[in-house]
Amino acid sequence: MLKIFRPCDFHVHLREGQVLKHVLKENNKNFQKILVMPNLAKPITNEKILSKYRALVLKNNRNTEILFTIYLNQDCKISDLKNMIKNNLFFAAKLYPLHATTNSSSGVKDIKKMSKYFEFLEKNKIPLCLHGEHIHKDDDPYERERRFLEYELSWLVKNFKNLKITLEHITTKDSVDFVKLNNNIAASITTHHLLENTNTFLGDYLKPELFCKPIIKSKKHQKSLLSAALSGNSKFFFGSDSAPHLKKYKFTESCCAGVYSTKYSVSNILELFYSSKKTNNLNKFLTINGCKHYNLKFDNKLISYVRQKDFKFQKYSKFKNDSLINYNHFKNHWIIN
Ligand code: NCD
Ligand code: ZN
Repeated sequence: MLKIFRPCDFHVHLREGQVLKHVLKENNKNFQKILVMPNLAKPITNEKILSKYRALVLKNNRNTEILFTIYLNQDCKISDLKNMIKNNLFFAAKLYPLHATTNSSSGVKDIKKMSKYFEFLEKNKIPLCLHGEHIHKDDDPYERERRFLEYELSWLVKNFKNLKITLEHITTKDSVDFVKLNNNIAASITTHHLLENTNTFLGDYLKPELFCKPIIKSKKHQKSLLSAALSGNSKFFFGSDSAPHLKKYKFTESCCAGVYSTKYSVSNILELFYSSKKTNNLNKFLTINGCKHYNLKFDNKLISYVRQKDFKFQKYSKFKNDSLINYNHFKNHWIIN
């Protein structure tokens, strides 16, 4: 048996409509807090869109604290941001480089032209969450994260020393090292980047269900992520980047980027820490470190998990005419007792 605090997921995509209802229910089963991403088909760039989305999410939510984000780009108005902060409507700002990932066509082309926004966030103590990939048509996709550290992130940390930054869903040793070396920056790590590598993703048959941004990296990088997460280092915490896409958009000619991991993510993390004999650091990775980084109080009531006997992996969660593809790694499965 394992006793842990109810976990937090500091990076989830809830989407809209039927998918939202299903995904939120799965989140309600597992998490005390979730940080919800703003990359809807029409991104959340202003108060009007945010208020509508908040109402939709909160109406369907039961028992999870929802932390909303705003989609920060050059169209955001400082006066609008000010007003939303005054009314406590969002918790963090999310920045997507242009064309970096799903629904990023309203993303930012040149981060260095966003200084007035960074100054504003810094002054108002609003965290900045980053999709950390440098996008250039000639660059190799495997190099995008490393280049982002070099071209954008180094500049950011140097010029905005009091800005609280989260480098999201990190995938490389370079990012682990960068985060350790710099102040005011922490990183989230997903289940699939901890548990998969280029061999499991495309070494044998290609698995579209594991295709995501940033792309899954080699064993060397996976090892570095694992040691950061398992060590309990306060700069690293869980953010699943659980990103549902209907099966018809994953198993097709142009596969969408995103791994949907919510259903089994806590179980996978528990099994990882258990099999690595690091259960003493579970609460740090799943709850404490993220809350500390974001200055949040958390519920420290303990919940018991046990290993389920005769676990059968449910690969698909069905919808009317389609389904979501669940991600799971281990044969052993943990459930709430
Ligand atoms: C995410 C999505 O589908 O919204 N996709 C992904 O591959 N991770 C967006 C993101 O976080 O990059
Ligand atoms: Zn994401």
